[in-house]
Amino acid sequence: MNDARPATAIDERGRSRRDVSHVEVLAGTSFKHQHLPAILADGLTRGFFEVHAENYMGAGGPPHRALSAIRERYPLSIHGVCMSIGGPGALDREHLERFRDLVARYEPALVSEHLAWSSHGGAFFNDLLPLPYTKDTLQRVCEHITQVQDAIKRPILLENPSTYVAFASSTMSETDFIRAVTRHTGCGLLLDLNNVFVSAVNHGFSPESYLAEFPLERVGEMHLAGHDEQRDDDNAPLLIDSHDRAVAEPVWDLYRSVVSRVGPVPTLIEWDSNLPDWPVLRAQAFAARRIMEEPTHAFAPEVSNAA
Ligand SMILES: [Fe+2]
Repeated sequence: MNDARPATAIDERGRSRRDVSHVEVLAGTSFKHQHLPAILADGLTRGFFEVHAENYMGAGGPPHRALSAIRERYPLSIHGVCMSIGGPGALDREHLERFRDLVARYEPALVSEHLAWSSHGGAFFNDLLPLPYTKDTLQRVCEHITQVQDAIKRPILLENPSTYVAFASSTMSETDFIRAVTRHTGCGLLLDLNNVFVSAVNHGFSPESYLAEFPLERVGEMHLAGHDEQRDDDNAPLLIDSHDRAVAEPVWDLYRSVVSRVGPVPTLIEWDSNLPDWPVLRAQAFAARRIMEEPTHAFAPEVSNAA
């Protein structure tokens, strides 16, 4: 860390003021190294890129050379996957220190983590696992977020999960839980609309009702992604948050609806496997940008007046 460097100015939704303004129409994509030559040749303007923090926790080498080339040209979002914010145990101290050092090194516009757990007792799992929403888990999640925010000296954006099971032990809704977390920790939110749609179909609730309860005023970034459509053992629809294809039309519809209410918010296309050529991925980001640029938005007052 370079302590002589001035702290990055962060807005109330956890975003770097240098790279993101409230009125900036910022649409980005996941950054994959095989796209680097095409991205550098592209001359893309107004984009941003997101990477998984855990892929850059080594000290140097090709991953950092590629990421540095991106950071020299574009705002960056660092998206943590393995912090296990929702886990029952203490955060892994070494992991947190690596995460802190990565944030200090790249000074990203956005820093985010998941409302989920993925490690326990020193074992790391490949999945983002759900948690029950209770007073006890709320306290633990808030403690963990505060610990992360204290380490990196800025708020994070917490991402809503996609889920396939619900806990009978939950005593509050997911949206009430998330709202309470923002109130207690001051964190912002990363609203993943594909996660909302996947969970809504899997559990049989209305995504519009969920969004009506979601604290949209705290959203500093949105995610859009593709999902796989399967059937469960009872032949009911089962959606998998696969990040391996284009964004589905119902998710675009939710996005139009949210943007019409809150205005432009940095929006990222997540695409992590079965990668297309760069122009296909870029076209998805451009589609999000076009929606943000539509002139028909009825912004909430605190958003429209914030520039
Ligand atoms: Fe996401």
